[in-house]
Amino acid sequence: MADERPFPLPLPWSWRRISLRRLEVDDLAAFQAYRRDPEVARYQGWKIVDDDAARAFLAEMRTAPMFLRDKWFQLGIALRETQELIGDVGVCVDGERSSAEIGFTVNPRFQGQGLASEAIQEITSRTMQFGAVDKVVARPDARNERSIRLLERIGFEPEGEATFQDEDGEQREIIYARIRPRQKKPARRR
Ligand SMILES: CC(C)(COP(=O)(O)OP(=O)(O)OC[C@H]1O[C@@H](n2cnc3c(N)ncnc32)[C@H](O)[C@@H]1OP(=O)(O)O)[C@@H](O)C(=O)NCCC(=O)NCCS
Repeated sequence: MADERPFPLPLPWSWRRISLRRLEVDDLAAFQAYRRDPEVARYQGWKIVDDDAARAFLAEMRTAPMFLRDKWFQLGIALRETQELIGDVGVCVDGERSSAEIGFTVNPRFQGQGLASEAIQEITSRTMQFGAVDKVVARPDARNERSIRLLERIGFEPEGEATFQDEDGEQREIIYARIRPRQKKPARRR
């Protein structure tokens, strides 16, 4: 299928104070600095891994094709000025190419400054642009107040809920979505 061929995209995508760029094996120390923090991992689908597994993941993501159907890829979130890695964001376009799901993480040292909001706004609009979807969703755990605050701040709206099991029993996640604004039709000539 033509739209399933990986195509090269111009990276990094920079906006205000952040850049979205490819993860590199050299990011290992910065990546593990927050990915090994149990508080950061608390509401996430991923698990804490050792350095060897993290290195293999970074090497894979360095060249992973982007915006294929049903295939997650991960980009680094970096400070625009220095390119220092401060977090990462994953994207997966669904099988019908009707929407894409995102998941995101920022090092606590760089939280509370609006940097995560900038990164998630940027990945949302790039996903609509290059992933050819009209809708981007995120599924925060209902207990994850910071993530919910972020999503609402940048215009995501709740559209449903789902339940899942973890070690503490049944939990809820809230499905948040942002829809691409409809383009105005050009006025009819009279
Ligand atoms: C979810 C997560 C990315 C949110 O990070 P964050 O730094 O709180 O998010 P933002 O970038 O939107 O920052 C917002 C805060 O910065 C403050 N802020 C300071 N300067 C700001 C600025 N210039 N612009 C916007 N906000 C600013 C806001 O007031 C807000 O503070 P508050 O949380 O006390 O209300 C982070 O908590 C995280 O990585 N958690 C662990 C992983 C996780 O659970 N991910 C979600 C999976 S769905």
